[in-house]
Amino acid sequence: MARLFVAREEADGEYRVAATPETVERLVDKGIEVVVARGAGEHAGWSDEAYTAVGATLGDDGALGDADIVVAVAPPSLEVASAMRRGAVLISFLAPHRQPQVTAALATAGVSALAMELVPRISRAQSIDALSSQANLSGYRAVIVAAYHLDKYFPLFMTAAGTIRPATIVVLGAGVAGLQAVATAKRLGAIVKVSDIREAAKAEVASLGASFIDVPDAEDLTDAGGYAKEVGEDFLTRQRAALTDAISSAHAVIATAQIPLRPAPRLVTAEMIAAMPAGAVLVDLAAADGGNCELTDPARIVESDGVTIIPGQDFPSAMPRESSALYARNITSFLDLIVGEDGSVAVNRDDEVVDGALATHDGQIVHDRVRTLVEERGGD
Ligand code: NAI
Repeated sequence: MARLFVAREEADGEYRVAATPETVERLVDKGIEVVVARGAGEHAGWSDEAYTAVGATLGDDGALGDADIVVAVAPPSLEVASAMRRGAVLISFLAPHRQPQVTAALATAGVSALAMELVPRISRAQSIDALSSQANLSGYRAVIVAAYHLDKYFPLFMTAAGTIRPATIVVLGAGVAGLQAVATAKRLGAIVKVSDIREAAKAEVASLGASFIDVPDAEDLTDAGGYAKEVGEDFLTRQRAALTDAISSAHAVIATAQIPLRPAPRLVTAEMIAAMPAGAVLVDLAAADGGNCELTDPARIVESDGVTIIPGQDFPSAMPRESSALYARNITSFLDLIVGEDGSVAVNRDDEVVDGALATHDGQIVHDRVRTLVEERGGD
């Protein structure tokens, strides 16, 4: 019988949990022995008793050394990585570009690490796609936070005391988070303008009733995997010029532009912030990877020239019950590919979803892009 350990998150501000009573019940029904770290669900609103009531047992962090599978949200600490059993499977986010030494330690410890951010974005893997489930939440919350901080209505109001013009919102990046931000801002009645560098984004933005900010003479910058290409400083200079007018008249900017495993593109300068109306807000969901705005501080809210700049990398954690419920279902769907009907655990490298997400295996970093990153950043 496979033994699965649900880790208690250790990172500051991480309130999510990788399994909920709902998903634990499903795993127990499947014949998996589930051990939940004491207090693992506390921040997300699930007591230890809620887990034991559906068949889990409670364990201390020491129990992870006996587990065949460990599930978590954030990348493990170095201690956790080296405490895992050789041949065990870890399923969590890995952030190899931010914590290369953890990936290196997992390889050394002989752990098979499946990174949630590497799960291929293909139809068959949609139920495992935690980037999407969490980004959706972030995009929604970014708009709600912007609306809360903004000293202005989002919608058009015609009142006896006069007409209030709707707010103008600029969304940078029209991926999962960006499109959810567009839809949420539209529902609140704002005028929405969007920038992206993938051609496919234009039609998606139009279908939500927002307008697109074109960069003159830009080609389609979509890579083979469907993501945006990393662009050079020349292009970014042209893009910032194209964005300047829209941003200087925007009441809020929702910044979501990212390149997987790379620094976020710098799209908003201090000068652009200074030109925004007083009381404007920028919410930066790319803050953990350097931010889309040069004034973003991932650790705190910054005020500059009357504009409030809010880091948003932890938004899923600010709604931990909802985000955990979705993430835990993503994890459970992934486990369907790892744990057989007979309870055996196997990392099947012939499965493109498993192999695509596999960062370390058999003592090696087996994912080419991750290996390059760890080598570049000195993960030893
Ligand atoms: P992401 O989080 O990596 O990036 C967010 C957005 O930023 C992307 O739309 C990207 O094009 C944009 N961006 C990058 N550089 C930019 C720049 N300089 N200026 C403006 N925007 C910039 O992307 P996310 O949200 O994870 O999705 C990326 C792709 O994956 C999309 O094509 C999406 O449709 C696709 N996808 C496919 C799924 C599937 O199951 N088939 C599921 C989810 C996403």
